Amino acid sequence: MGRKLAQPSDGPRRAVRAVRAGRRDVARVAGVTSYSLRKADPVKTRADAVVVGVQAVDGAPVLAGGGGAAVAKALGRGLAPLLARMKVTGASGEAVRVPTGGALTSPLLVLVGLGDPGAATSESLRRAAGVAARNLANASSVAVALPAEDAGSVRAVTDGLRSGAYAVQRVAPAPTKGSPARRRAAEEDGVAEVAVLSDCARQQACRQAFDTALLVADLADVARAWVNTPPNLLGPVELATQMADLRTAGSRARRAVEVEVVEEDELRALGCGGILGVSSGSSRPARLVRMTYRPKGATRHVALVGKGITYDSGGLTIKPGSSMKTMKTDMAGAASVVAATYAVAELELPVAVTAYAPLAENMLSGAALRPGDVLRMYDGQTVEVQNTDAEGRLVLADALAMAAELEPDAIVEMSTLTGACVTALGERIAGLFGEDATVAGVERAAAATGELLWRLPVPESTLEAIRTESSIADLLQHNWVRWGSSSWAAAFLAQFVKGREWAHLDIAGPSYNSGGAWGHTPSGATGFGVRTLVEYVAQSAQAADGA
Ligand code: BES
Ligand code: MN
Ligand code: ZN
Repeated sequence: MGRKLAQPSDGPRRAVRAVRAGRRDVARVAGVTSYSLRKADPVKTRADAVVVGVQAVDGAPVLAGGGGAAVAKALGRGLAPLLARMKVTGASGEAVRVPTGGALTSPLLVLVGLGDPGAATSESLRRAAGVAARNLANASSVAVALPAEDAGSVRAVTDGLRSGAYAVQRVAPAPTKGSPARRRAAEEDGVAEVAVLSDCARQQACRQAFDTALLVADLADVARAWVNTPPNLLGPVELATQMADLRTAGSRARRAVEVEVVEEDELRALGCGGILGVSSGSSRPARLVRMTYRPKGATRHVALVGKGITYDSGGLTIKPGSSMKTMKTDMAGAASVVAATYAVAELELPVAVTAYAPLAENMLSGAALRPGDVLRMYDGQTVEVQNTDAEGRLVLADALAMAAELEPDAIVEMSTLTGACVTALGERIAGLFGEDATVAGVERAAAATGELLWRLPVPESTLEAIRTESSIADLLQHNWVRWGSSSWAAAFLAQFVKGREWAHLDIAGPSYNSGGAWGHTPSGATGFGVRTLVEYVAQSAQAADGA
């Protein structure tokens, strides 16, 4: 039956070796953690810990799925008093560690809550798996027996485990500081081997779901790492370089993406007044990253655009200090779009993708953009600037106009655009704006990935106001009316898509979790949007098939 997991004492080295040796079971290394998909009995599996889900059935805890049933049988009559003693309820977010006392081969059972089975979705599984991942730090090998009996649930469990395991990279101390032993300890910390147990482990669809989940989660973690990197260490030049370097970091398929980094001379020649205007106050030059993926036989073309302000001080319209402290998150849209494009290529999805990431730093100096300035954008439209802190729409205007020029079937743009969107929807839900068909497509994709979004309007009267309220330019950037400023921002972006199908996601809230970790969402950068963008592209391939 199932393969044995490594002995705890074997540590990470063995896991890595096993993967290099190309073991037959699907396995991947992420950091020092290797993941595998196996058919095995959780009762007899050798691991430091076994994870089982608990449902709250009419308020009473019940171990979930085939794995849960096997564990319940092994614990026998001891189970009910044990659950009662440990106050296990099965509520979502719950994690309770129980010593098995020899009833299972593994010494430790970790019970994670799945919530009410009536309300179960793939997101409840993803969250429970994420909670499990965050409660396993001391184990070296883990077997996960959450209910994963088909491809969809294998994907959710794997995604949640991988996503919940993310840890912020601390800034490395100078090489002379920190003893080698301490550094080694840090590297070897954490789980070495995670086995996802599933009865469908040998079926192609489940193995593929497992692989896809790891790949997309890996790239979402890259987006998280970019956002979490302190802004002094990651300006537009550094970020553009890292984005381009990622091309050769994954499987060969990733190299199908062509990456261009457009420098300032060329931005000037192209007439990118928005990107250059925003960047002018910073001593660090702007960049535009353009990615092109053209698989053979593609019948659809999607353009992705992401806001890449590596730091947003507000510029001359300076932010109050407390609003500035997390403004390294202002390139989260660009990070997600770039990560998603690499994932699309690695999955070899049959959809053409062009991605644009305008990168700039919004700072103040004698050369900074002023309220009152008029900029000429890439498409020739002039814009009267009123607020240098509404910089996102300015860099996006150039990128959207470039994207529209290619006449893609749809443009999906993602940006940490307005604080008002966080006021409206909170920190966990993105605002969604745009044309019906693209909005519906993004909603379908988000329903599959569990990322939360809510549609908000782009009012006709606002589109009109932006085109008529400046006496000196074609468009008014901002009108200093607080109310509905997310819609104003979206309506401003709409002026640059040339009537094409498009959607705008305002991710100012969900891109960054300023509270503690929950489910599979870590504290700090979340990587929001990577999963939904990949899913959107995957689903648009199917739409093209059906057409
Ligand atoms: N980057 C901010 C938006 C933001 C706010 C992102 C909170 C993440 C968390 C954006 O550039 C900005 O400053 N927007 C202004 C718009 C206003 C001037 C219309 C804002 O939200 O105040
Ligand atoms: Mn701003
Ligand atoms: Zn901003």
